[in-house]
Amino acid sequence: MLDLSPRPGDLDPIETASRDEIGGLQLERMQWSLNHAYKNSPFYKNRFDDHGVHPSDLKTLADLSKFPFTHKQDLRDTYPFGMFAVPREKLARVHGSSGTTGKPTVVGYTLKDIDIWADLVARSIRASGGRPGDMIHIAYGYGLFTGGLGAHYGAERLGCTVIPVSGGMTERQVTLINDFKPKIIMVTPSYMLSILDEFRRQGIDPRESSLAVGIFGAEPWTNSMRSEIEQAFDMHAVDIYGLSEVLGPGVANECVETKDGLTLWEDHFYPEIIHPETGEVLPDGEMGELVFTTLTKEGLPMVRYRTRDLTRLLPGTARSMRRIEKITGRSDDMIILRGVNVFPTQIEEQILKCDGLAPHFQIELNRDGRMDGMIVHVESTAAAAADGPRQASAKELGHHIKSVVGISTKINVTEPGGVARSEGKAKRVVDNRPKAD
Ligand code: DLL
Repeated sequence: MLDLSPRPGDLDPIETASRDEIGGLQLERMQWSLNHAYKNSPFYKNRFDDHGVHPSDLKTLADLSKFPFTHKQDLRDTYPFGMFAVPREKLARVHGSSGTTGKPTVVGYTLKDIDIWADLVARSIRASGGRPGDMIHIAYGYGLFTGGLGAHYGAERLGCTVIPVSGGMTERQVTLINDFKPKIIMVTPSYMLSILDEFRRQGIDPRESSLAVGIFGAEPWTNSMRSEIEQAFDMHAVDIYGLSEVLGPGVANECVETKDGLTLWEDHFYPEIIHPETGEVLPDGEMGELVFTTLTKEGLPMVRYRTRDLTRLLPGTARSMRRIEKITGRSDDMIILRGVNVFPTQIEEQILKCDGLAPHFQIELNRDGRMDGMIVHVESTAAAAADGPRQASAKELGHHIKSVVGISTKINVTEPGGVARSEGKAKRVVDNRPKAD
């Protein structure tokens, strides 16, 4: 694989600044952000007043813990435009996150917010190994989802040639990659696997493709999946993280030279890790729920927003800013099966250990009487699609899950193509258990 490490002069000065400089900038910006939220968003004014805190109480970064949390429910309660800190006329764009309910969660950006967003996605693409002049195929969905347009503006900002394909029409994705020869692809990791299948279906060797870097995010994926994709395409696979409420893609990104977790763009977002039940702030290195305070956002400032994403904060390596460990689950994706906590990524890891299985899977949860049960639907590879090998794969996977994750599951190994595909974020869990009232 190509060496895509940055050369001297490639990086923004803040990416190599001292921790003191970063901390100083964060404090100054946090004071601005809390004041801005308090003065211009009645939502935050009421929240802070009810909590007995005022922006002037923030003298150090640690003082942030005195301020109240913000939750996704707050956005729902103020739907659609109730949390903004600028008049609606000053919003240049709105996006929405899909969520599970019918109405999206609405977020909004001023022109300045979009400008900063483009800079951060450009920085993320550069961290992934992209440079001005590269061609980038964007297969994240365009629309209310932040993936497509977020990636698009950042790629243009870096000076790349953008192919705005959006998700879907997988056959055409492969045709365009073959004909245009992009160096970089930005797409969800699960949809990249569908593109991989389509390469094979068309009899084209994916290792011969022009792709040198994939920037994958919007859903959890494992390091085992990274190896799978890197080997299949002979390309670098790096992780990009973000969420609509805070920005969209480009809150954190892995550096291609280390691939050791995602560097958080701390000059614009202040992270905390908290205990998901008590809300207590945990020290760096401890696992918990990621919480963000935006430092520069005008349209929708976020103060201590609870992401529900579980990870830990790690010291900087390739950059001076801190990293988050690859996010392997959300507190609300966690399956509790007969008292054992299970994340879909744990199942993914076990699937990738089995030679006869392809990494397309879905978990079904059922209740039989009082007992909860789990069925893992997973596809066989083309080479192991006959009955005998499929039964052997099912047995092997069941054994790995039992010994590593600690639960007994039913395994249904389907023929290739037997598991529902998504063109964006994969739906990993179908929960058929009766809902608690
Ligand atoms: O998924 C933004 C995005 C688009 C990120 C494209 C990366 C690439 P939402 O739709 O609001 O925004 O979903 C945000 O997706 O809280 C995480 O649970 C999950 N997520 C996003 N990136 C990652 C990642 C976009 N790299 C939610 N690893 C977040 C694991 C991720 N989970």
